[in-house]
Formats: sequence, C-alpha cells, structure tokens
Amino acid sequence: MGISINRWTEEIAISGIRQFFNLLADYPDAVGLTVGQPDFATPEAVKEAGMRAIQANQTGYSHNAGLMELRLAIQSFFKDIHGLTYSAANEIIATNGSSEGLDSIFRTILEEGDEVIIPAPAYPGYAPLIRLSGAKAVYLDTSDTDFQPDPERLEALITDKTKAVLMNFPSNPTGVTLDETTLQQLADVLNRHEVFIVSDEVYSENSFDDQHRSFARFAHLRDRMFIVHGLSKSHAMTGWRLGFVLGPAWVMQHVLKVHQYNATCASLPSQHAAIEALTTQRHVPATMNEAYIERRDFVYRKLTAMGLDVVLPTGAFYIFPSIKKFGLSSAEFAERLLKEGGVGAVPGSAFTEYGEGFLRISYAYSLPVLEEGMKRMEKFIQTVS
Ligand SMILES: Cc1ncc(COP(=O)(O)O)c(C=O)c1O
Repeated sequence: MGISINRWTEEIAISGIRQFFNLLADYPDAVGLTVGQPDFATPEAVKEAGMRAIQANQTGYSHNAGLMELRLAIQSFFKDIHGLTYSAANEIIATNGSSEGLDSIFRTILEEGDEVIIPAPAYPGYAPLIRLSGAKAVYLDTSDTDFQPDPERLEALITDKTKAVLMNFPSNPTGVTLDETTLQQLADVLNRHEVFIVSDEVYSENSFDDQHRSFARFAHLRDRMFIVHGLSKSHAMTGWRLGFVLGPAWVMQHVLKVHQYNATCASLPSQHAAIEALTTQRHVPATMNEAYIERRDFVYRKLTAMGLDVVLPTGAFYIFPSIKKFGLSSAEFAERLLKEGGVGAVPGSAFTEYGEGFLRISYAYSLPVLEEGMKRMEKFIQTVS
C-alpha cells in the first residue's frame, strides 16, 4: 500500500492484557482471574440517577468541562475526602473515563522527543498514549524494591528530556500504595526538577490501610501536577465512562481545548449518575474495600502457603506474586497455568519488561471463585516445581 498511516499508531500494539483475554476465550472452563473491574453492580441510586436523567431528556451536550453541578460535586469530594482544594470553575474537567483524561493531558503537555518517567511494572495504558503524542515512556524499575519507587533512581532518570513523571498509587498491577517516607522523598526530588506530575489516582478510594496519600498535598508541586481519577473503580462504573482531571488553572485551560475537540463532553446521563455517586454514595468504596480486604487476605495466605514471594497489596484489587523460581517466563507460566491448570492470570510481562517474572492475579471475584482458582493453582504449581 503506497499510503501510510500515522507512524506512532503503526508502532503501538494491542495490550498484553487484551491478548491474554483473547486466549482465555478458548478455555471456557478456566477460572479467569484477569479482570480489572469490580465484580459489584453500580449502586442502585447511581443507576436510578442515570435513568432519571435519560427520562428527563438529559441526553444532549453539556459544558465542555462537564455540568457545573458535577464539577462542584467533584470539588467537594476532593475537599472532604482528600483535603485538596480545586476550583470547579477552572481546575476540574469531567472526561470519558480516566483514559480520555490521560490522553488529553499527554496531548496537552507532550511534544516529540519528550520523556515521561513511570515506575514499573506499570499499567499498559500509558506508554501507547505517550507514544501517540510523539513522546516516550522511560521506566523506573521497582521490581526489586517491593514496588516502591526509589527516589534516587528517579533523580538519576530525570534529564533535560523529562517532561513529566507519572505516578499510579494504589498501583495496577502491584496493588501497592506509597509509604509515607517514600512519598516525602519522591516529593523532595520532584521539587528539585521542573517537570509535570501526572498522578493516576483511579484506585485512591481503594486504599486499605489508611487515608490515601497524594502528591497534591505538597503545595510546591500543585502548580504542575494533575490528578487523574474517575468512578470506574470506586463505584463499579467502568461502562459509564466517567472520569475527571484536576489540575492548576493555567494548564487546565489548555487540557480543556484538547478535551473539547476529542470528546466535546462526557456522556450527560453518566454525568448525572456521577453526581449521585459523589454525593449520596460516598460510602460505597468502603463497603467494597471490606470485601477486597477479605479476598486479598485469602489469596495472599494461599500464595504464601504455595511458597511464592508476594508483596502484600494495600490497595486496588490486584496481587502480583513472583514466579521467578519456576524458571519460566511469565508468558510461558501464564499460558501453562491456563492450559494445564485451568486458571487465567495475566503474565507480568504485560506490564512492561519490569513485570517479567511476575503474575497479576485480580481478586475482584467472589470468594468461591478465588477458592477454586487457588486450589487449581496450587495443584498446577506442584507439577511445575
Ligand atoms: C491504573 C489505571 N488507570 C486508568 C485506568 C482506566 O480507567 P477508566 O478509563 O475506566 O477510568 C485503569 C483501568 O483499568 C487503570 O487500571
């Protein structure tokens, strides 16, 4: 074909998670522990608010940044829950899921040749979006530091090309949250370098130990930092596609332009549902967390009993055991676990090369499903040991 497509689009690939999903479809009897979404239904009151909006013909466009009522609800939520102050008028944009929020931010700040540093293993959604902006992801290896980013390593990676540092805690795929000392030290490093901070906090409501810790609490970082969040995980609303971006007004006016032209606005019925989620349904994440903690404890106990090295997750709903001792690549291990053991889990290599030697197990499943999955995995491991 003499005609070519965009070279960055040509270069990026379908995510490893998706590839594994496709393989899973060929094994209908397998216990799949792969999904990245809550197994709970969207809360009734939220569904009703969405339905009411449709019935009242709230089905058109809204302000590009989202309904003012929604932005005020987001503003109050961040003030009350996270102690952070962002203005509904010019520092908050409702997006089509946090995915679109990330894309709009990247396309606002990145240029060809720029680099974005990301602690890895990392969510596979970032690098392709960064690439589509002509920039490049540079990874900070956390695989040998219990998935806490080492501040000195971060500082060593920062160069003239570094435009942003992306943080995702609680983390997909490792489930870890930042400990207080690491957070402080990372903030000190970031204070010394004029780079943007993109903080993907889509799992912040799913922090198990204590209050979620955000970089946004450091006043000296606020002016060049974005918080990316949404209701997909906190309120079991993945299909409603409702996310939000918070950031300083001077740059949010530019993010709004990108968002205006690529999305116009977030889905209006979903915006009405989101208002309900953020006002009357604030208790929902805590209820889900009770279930996640019980499941995490169960899976952690089982994996440890199988002799696997595992970092105890403190957030999200993933656990990331090491499978290095079996001498197989994580892709081989995951494929054999599926074909011979009847369990689907995502190979760590889907989360950058720093995930090699690990396996991502999602525990966003009921206990009986997890019990069956762990039973099968234990049996399989005996055959590969
Ligand atoms: C770390 C992380 N960020 C962003 C997303 C995207 O979520 P959404 O676009 O549904 O808000 C996901 C989804 O799995 C995720 O795990």
